[in-house]
Amino acid sequence: MTRTQIPALRRWGDYDRDNPYPLFAEVLEQGPVHEVTLTDGHRAFLVMGYDAAREALNHPGLSKDMEAALDAEGAVVAEGLPGRDFARHMLSVDPPDHTRLRRLATPSFTRTRLAPLEARIVETTGALLDDLEAREGPVDLVAGFALPLPFSVIGELLGVERREQERLAGWFATLMTPYPGAVPPDEAVVASGSIVDCLGDLVDRRLARPTDDLVGDLARAAKAGTITRKELMSSLFQLVVAGHHTTTSLIGNGVAALLQHPEQWETLAADPALVPQAIEELLRYDAPVPHSTFRYATSNVTIAGTEIPAGVQVVVNLATAGRDPARHDDPHELDVTRPSVDHMAFGHGIHHCLGARLARLEARIAFTALLARFPHLRLAVDHRDLRWDHGDGLVLRGLSELPVHL
Ligand code: HEM
Repeated sequence: MTRTQIPALRRWGDYDRDNPYPLFAEVLEQGPVHEVTLTDGHRAFLVMGYDAAREALNHPGLSKDMEAALDAEGAVVAEGLPGRDFARHMLSVDPPDHTRLRRLATPSFTRTRLAPLEARIVETTGALLDDLEAREGPVDLVAGFALPLPFSVIGELLGVERREQERLAGWFATLMTPYPGAVPPDEAVVASGSIVDCLGDLVDRRLARPTDDLVGDLARAAKAGTITRKELMSSLFQLVVAGHHTTTSLIGNGVAALLQHPEQWETLAADPALVPQAIEELLRYDAPVPHSTFRYATSNVTIAGTEIPAGVQVVVNLATAGRDPARHDDPHELDVTRPSVDHMAFGHGIHHCLGARLARLEARIAFTALLARFPHLRLAVDHRDLRWDHGDGLVLRGLSELPVHL
């Protein structure tokens, strides 16, 4: 095992999160497994690089059961989710509960179920871009496009009415503020309560009048006793969380990366058939969940030849899975024509992102529309002045704004 010699890494998260890639590369060079301390003082093991990340994400001795870890450890990093009320969803449990909860939501992410959503995504994309085009001067592509598009898609998926979607987006923005402590605790409590009420009403409407959609499926399962009310509410909450900031980052960070490499933007504008492949390259180059996905060792496990003791947290770093020189040629180069792109931006193993197909669909529509309508898009600020939003600092990495000239 490598006990890191890099001071910046001794506390995981306390590094230059605006551009963590040089540090990540340096640490990976020293080995795939490192002991670190989390910002809350807990001891953890960091796993880096493609092969080691894959091994960790496949390991049955590494658990996602947040409640069990909380009971054992008192306070573990809860991946941005506010508290235990929302802690029983597929991403925070192990089999057999994971299998049961994932199976209930899976039908909503098939090609057939997503097909009707496609037209709505195209329509929303067009409307948001019309709105941006009508404005004078530079526009913020995050606030005006990359954030509202995924939020409205997840709203549609859950069957939340348009009017209600805006209120829901506001409450989530309050809860998921980029700076810990920026929102007074009572405001967070009100936001959390409003989300519970809004999602609860939705479930009750579906219980009264069943529908063939995601919430309808889950409500039917609740009636049949296959899912508890807490699991149902946690699942809906997690879907909203998982479904919007990540996709916002794919679009926002992706556009920013392309505009910092204008020849890549031009290549795509000239040949939009490259868009699906470019999306994979952007996911590899700048994963929306770059820093950490968390696990908890329920027994002694060995990853990449290193023993990790039972009872510690394990941080799997997905950014280095996408930029591992052992896996990719020129890993730090952005190249939208890269023929086959291997990354772990959607995770791996049983918790592989359930929304990956939807995220790719949204990104394809978003990038295709942007390239067609604004082929000469350019940054309105120097790329060094872009402002990043790190959420709680350990999981997500996205732009807080992206000023561009259309
Ligand atoms: C799981 C990334 C979009 C729903 C995950 C995981 C990652 C991820 C890395 C695994 C986490 C872990 O193993 O600890 C992303 C990225 C996205 C995206 C990069 C966009 C570019 C979405 C969307 C949805 C969604 C749009 C749904 C609307 C989920 C769900 C899980 C998950 C339900 C849990 C799966 C399970 O535990 O079995 N995602 N995600 N994601 N994601 Fe996504």
